[in-house]
Amino acid sequence: MSRVLITSAIPYINGIKHLGNLVGSMLPADLYARYRRGRGDEVLFLCATDEHGTPAEIAAQKAGKPVAEYCAEMWQTQKSLSDGFLLSFDKFGRSSSPQNHALTQHFAAKLHDAGLIEERTETQVYSNADGRFLPDRYIEGTCPNCGYDKARGDQCENCTKQLDPVDLIEPRSAISGSTDLEVRETKHLYLLQSKMRDELRSWIDTREDWPVLTTSIAKKWLDDGDGLQDRGITRDLEWGVPVRRGDADWPGMEGKVFYVWFDAPIEYIACANEWTAERGMPDADWQRWWRTDHGADDVRYVQFMGKDNVPFHTLSFPVTIMGANSTGEDWKLVDYIKSFNYLNYDGGQFSTSQGRGVFMDQALSILPADYWRWYLLRNAPENGDSEFTWETFQAASNRDLADVLGNFVSRVTKFCRSKFDETVPEGGTYGPEEEAVIADLTTRVAEYTRLMDAIEIRKAAAELRAIWVVGNEYLQRTAPWSAFKEDPDRAAAIIRLSLNLIRLYGILSQPFIPDAADAMLKAMRTDAAWPNDVPQALSALPAGHAFDVPENLFAKITDDQREDWSTRFSGTRT
Ligand code: 2FM
Ligand code: ZN
Repeated sequence: MSRVLITSAIPYINGIKHLGNLVGSMLPADLYARYRRGRGDEVLFLCATDEHGTPAEIAAQKAGKPVAEYCAEMWQTQKSLSDGFLLSFDKFGRSSSPQNHALTQHFAAKLHDAGLIEERTETQVYSNADGRFLPDRYIEGTCPNCGYDKARGDQCENCTKQLDPVDLIEPRSAISGSTDLEVRETKHLYLLQSKMRDELRSWIDTREDWPVLTTSIAKKWLDDGDGLQDRGITRDLEWGVPVRRGDADWPGMEGKVFYVWFDAPIEYIACANEWTAERGMPDADWQRWWRTDHGADDVRYVQFMGKDNVPFHTLSFPVTIMGANSTGEDWKLVDYIKSFNYLNYDGGQFSTSQGRGVFMDQALSILPADYWRWYLLRNAPENGDSEFTWETFQAASNRDLADVLGNFVSRVTKFCRSKFDETVPEGGTYGPEEEAVIADLTTRVAEYTRLMDAIEIRKAAAELRAIWVVGNEYLQRTAPWSAFKEDPDRAAAIIRLSLNLIRLYGILSQPFIPDAADAMLKAMRTDAAWPNDVPQALSALPAGHAFDVPENLFAKITDDQREDWSTRFSGTRT
């Protein structure tokens, strides 16, 4: 048995996530966690909400709520939706947890001891009316290049020119609209990432089995030096982890908090601590996942994320870990990073700020999770961006789920009930047809297992579908309904194998479509042991074993529904 630590990039707290966010990290991470559990591994699967930073403060302000209250409510909403999508996190934590405060302050102290933190003075725009410093993108004004009057301090959305806030004509606060702005000096802590360049490079260069998407992004940032510029890791905000050096004050840093991207990945660790704290377990129980000197040396740690998150996970967070380790601690570094391109929506981009696309709550309001999970995973944006369209969604659901899998289960169980009863029939023997199916599936299940091990999601989905098709074609070829008239024993043998196929499909499909898979296994009144030996697995249900005919697993999506949804979700969400 192996031990596998799995984390999904933690979603920002400010708003409900769309399907692009879901398929970019949480859903594939869940697929892998379920698969590893199915194989009998010990898994710890963690996710959380990413609660700090200006966007959280502003979302709370818009909602007219104190930020702590807003985050607590939105965490609950995101938690319910992740349950709705059957995401099987062992813990869905919060980056604002006391555990993350303590660990973030701990790492900062270690990085300071390692000589990797430096204090620098800089100038920043302060808004008197808002009583706060304004991050560049919260300063608006007229673009000096094209005259667009809603250009942001970091970039003009209209002509795409990169800007500095001081370039803007008639700058104002994007929060209050106030023009009462001034430039003030402020002190911040910088993480000296550039000092770790060589160590990072030799680490990344030896990750030969990583996806090209991950390593190409990491190397690009390493090579052109941009990603390794020293980074400011503190901010003049109220909401966040207060800047402290472990338990001690940090002179000169009073009233400041750590930058959201500094504390967010540390939440991966803190989340494990939240998990043990909630259960009254000792610290040793989370440390055995995260500290190689406490037993984590035999853990395989796999991270899932969208491509925009790769630089932070291949460079910044490893600097935090390696830096702390250089002071004599032994934190676990990631072993494998699976990253994703973007999912687009009907010819454009999903967008949270513009409310464009289908959001998790909307998706669940029209169909159960399995429909979405299957479609999104089989089209996961692994090797390039992929595109959500209502036509392909309808086609994939109807053809794969209803016509192939659902139909097979329904025909086999109903036929058995009508001609025999609700037990696996006895009589007849397996002949060449059955042997061919068993041989074919032995090869296919091995390939499916290989693809799932390699986290090749689209290919694994295609193989799983092919495995379902084998059953359908077998039934079509052997036609037990005709065989029954001449030779009931022959029909009994066909149905006996087919009922065992349902069990096999239940086990193999569980990572993709957990609800349907559970319904299949429950109906077969059976366990879910992984089919390491396919011929043996296909005789797990012996003659005489009782089963139930399940409800239809999947309904077809009608053209009317498709048209209705595509109109309903064509605009932007208000
Ligand atoms: O892109 C995002 O949604 C970020 N909230 C991901 C953070 S992942 C991490 F480092 F914690
Ligand atoms: Zn412009």
